[in-house]
Amino acid sequence: MTKRISLTQHLIEQQRLHNKIPSELRLLIEVVGRACKSISHAVGKGALGEVLGSAESENVQGEVQKKLDIISNEILLEANEWGGHLAAMASEEMETIHLIPNRYPMGEYMLLFDPLDGSSNIDVNVSIGTIFSVLKAPEGMGTPTEQAFLQPGAKQVAAGYAVYGPQTVLVLTTGDGVHCFTLDREMGAWVLTQKNIQIPADTKEFAINVSNSRHWYPPVSRYVTELLAGKEGPLGKDFNMRWVASMVADVHRILTRGGIFMYPADAREPEKPGKLRLMYEANPMAFIVEQAGGAATNGQQRIMDIQPEKLHQRVPVFLGSKNEVERVTAYHQQ
Ligand code: AHG
Ligand code: MN
Ligand code: MN
Repeated sequence: MTKRISLTQHLIEQQRLHNKIPSELRLLIEVVGRACKSISHAVGKGALGEVLGSAESENVQGEVQKKLDIISNEILLEANEWGGHLAAMASEEMETIHLIPNRYPMGEYMLLFDPLDGSSNIDVNVSIGTIFSVLKAPEGMGTPTEQAFLQPGAKQVAAGYAVYGPQTVLVLTTGDGVHCFTLDREMGAWVLTQKNIQIPADTKEFAINVSNSRHWYPPVSRYVTELLAGKEGPLGKDFNMRWVASMVADVHRILTRGGIFMYPADAREPEKPGKLRLMYEANPMAFIVEQAGGAATNGQQRIMDIQPEKLHQRVPVFLGSKNEVERVTAYHQQ
């Protein structure tokens, strides 16, 4: 039998090799990993755990919250409050930042998360997930403010996501490649199952919600028209399409076999460019995709170079196989 490497062992060995994962960051990642196990457990109960359906409340983006959005948010907050590794947290599901209660020590990291990604897929038993991003608190910050979180994605020290699907996996980067762990459900342990994932530079698969095509701007319309033209078109090959409607699952497919994922801005609400959120979705996924040799832009620039202006800001997203992301980005720049 091949030797199994746990998440803890992997993190300790990475620290020994590259001296990049201080013990507080390791604790943070392990706590997030533990929270994802709890979320996976709740998700897996489905109707038996009375976790399906709407919570009949709205989040700050005006989206109706599902019960599991709220449960997952609570699990992540509770798990991360007391360890002393965090200065503050921010979540897609909370309007303002979450401070660490006075009774616990404050650490030097800040955690941001989309507690449950793919909410529309919960009740239909399709893969969903959790996305997280880790920043360092600015030196001498004192009481954390929203401003402290507004750092470009290039400043992330770690990012990851969990997918709750046929298998539960945790995909992680600390800036030293991308590694995947599979949850051993009997043992309750994350086991390293793939090291240094690489996204192929070329692909024949794309992901976009085509029902929005009448609202697209010309560069996206041009690109998708070319994809659909296949072998006879300017790209000279046939493309296949996939759209799970859970970003975690679409990105995980791209990490596994390549592809391009797009959620563009469109003409509907120019003040809300696109649907995805820079701080909880685009930045962590961009970090992971770049670490796996792919690319991630907003059509104009690298996502991780964007200076955030608001915690809940939205951003157009083009990410995945490098050559295709570069092509659609060039169409925007022309
Ligand atoms: P969330 O459930 O966290 O709000 O995110 C859903 C996002 C993303 O996961 C997915 O790619 C996209 O919304 C799907 O959007 P459409 O319903 O427009 O296809
Ligand atoms: Mn999401
Ligand atoms: Mn969400």
